[in-house]
Amino acid sequence: MNFNRVAPWFERLEKIVFRDQMQSCRTTHLSDLPAIKKAALIGEGNGAFLVQFLKHCNCEEIHYIDSSKTMLELAQKRMQKHVVPGLKRIEFYNLDLSLESMPDQNYDLVVTNFFLDVFNEATLYDVVSKITSACAQDALWLYADFQIAGNRYQRWRAITWVKTMYLFFKFVSNIQTTRLADPSRLFDHNGFQVKEVTEFKNGLMRAELRQRH
Ligand SMILES: C[S@@+](CC[C@H](N)C(=O)[O-])C[C@H]1O[C@@H](n2cnc3c(N)ncnc32)[C@H](O)[C@@H]1O
Repeated sequence: MNFNRVAPWFERLEKIVFRDQMQSCRTTHLSDLPAIKKAALIGEGNGAFLVQFLKHCNCEEIHYIDSSKTMLELAQKRMQKHVVPGLKRIEFYNLDLSLESMPDQNYDLVVTNFFLDVFNEATLYDVVSKITSACAQDALWLYADFQIAGNRYQRWRAITWVKTMYLFFKFVSNIQTTRLADPSRLFDHNGFQVKEVTEFKNGLMRAELRQRH
């Protein structure tokens, strides 16, 4: 699995297909965040979310993790353009979370936007376990992703969209799975309870703010 090839086109494609809906889904719960000291933004791609995150959150330490070098370069370039007042420390990590460990511990916020959908059920379990064990006791989790939910029409529509996207990403990124696995049960199992939830694109996408208690 490798997102280097699609990285330069990802944002343009997203805007053509979904306009601003994916970015709204990523950012909708930013204003609900309390003060954060240490955040891990995981599989965060080209940096579109990072710019908005920095506007809302005066976080002391940010670890930005992605397995694609091209995605990380795009995020770093974007950071050079957006000089954010009071910008604190951002460290970029080129690592594959399905094989490697989280770079540090005690994160009080983790963010996974349209990232967990790239894994099959077994890898999803491993990746979520790695992330949760790197979290502080009362950590928050910002999650955004596609979902198959709602009435019959919404489910049929979501299945069609998701199948098409997986076919595309199989071709351009050799994505690991062809089925969308919902991580809700894993979040619940690891003690992360829903605080806020918002749907976008008539239920095709879901944003959640969760917290561990
Ligand atoms: C579908 S893209 C989403 C990117 C971004 N979060 C967004 O919302 O646009 C998935 C991202 O996860 C990264 N990724 C995929 N597998 C990964 C892994 N095993 N470890 C770390 N990052 C990974 C990809 O390089 C890519 O940037």
